[in-house]
Amino acid sequence: MKRKEFFTTLGISAGTVMFAPFLVSCSKGSSVVDPGTGGTTGGTVDFTLDLSLAANSALMAVGGSLTNNGVVIANTSSGYVALASACTHQGSAVLYDSTNNRFNCSNTGGGHGSQYALNGAVTAGPAPKALKLYNTTLTGTKLRVFA
Ligand code: FES
Repeated sequence: MKRKEFFTTLGISAGTVMFAPFLVSCSKGSSVVDPGTGGTTGGTVDFTLDLSLAANSALMAVGGSLTNNGVVIANTSSGYVALASACTHQGSAVLYDSTNNRFNCSNTGGGHGSQYALNGAVTAGPAPKALKLYNTTLTGTKLRVFA
């Protein structure tokens, strides 16, 4: 390899190295889910939803629910409940059932159909274990969901 070719190659490599950290930063920043603030990082849940925003307005009324950052959040007659949204059987989405005041696996096919209590406990299988229950605090219209 000639000297000029070497430096040309080195220049491209150095440029790649210089921009690599920015690429990593962008990918990390995009993990924050809008319109909530915070997010799920390394398995730790801690985010805040502004209930005054249209995207989160379902949580303003008892019976409403939504899923954000891998957590299904419901406004129940007992207050806000936040559970991990992946069924512990095979990972299908868990949804709030306001009629029965419980959480149901969305997979209702044969061999599925798990149900969970408001504390995440399994009340009907085949789910092998409870859903993770998260803490919630409401300050004004800001609902914080955290481990
Ligand atoms: S994935 Fe939920 S019961 Fe099977």
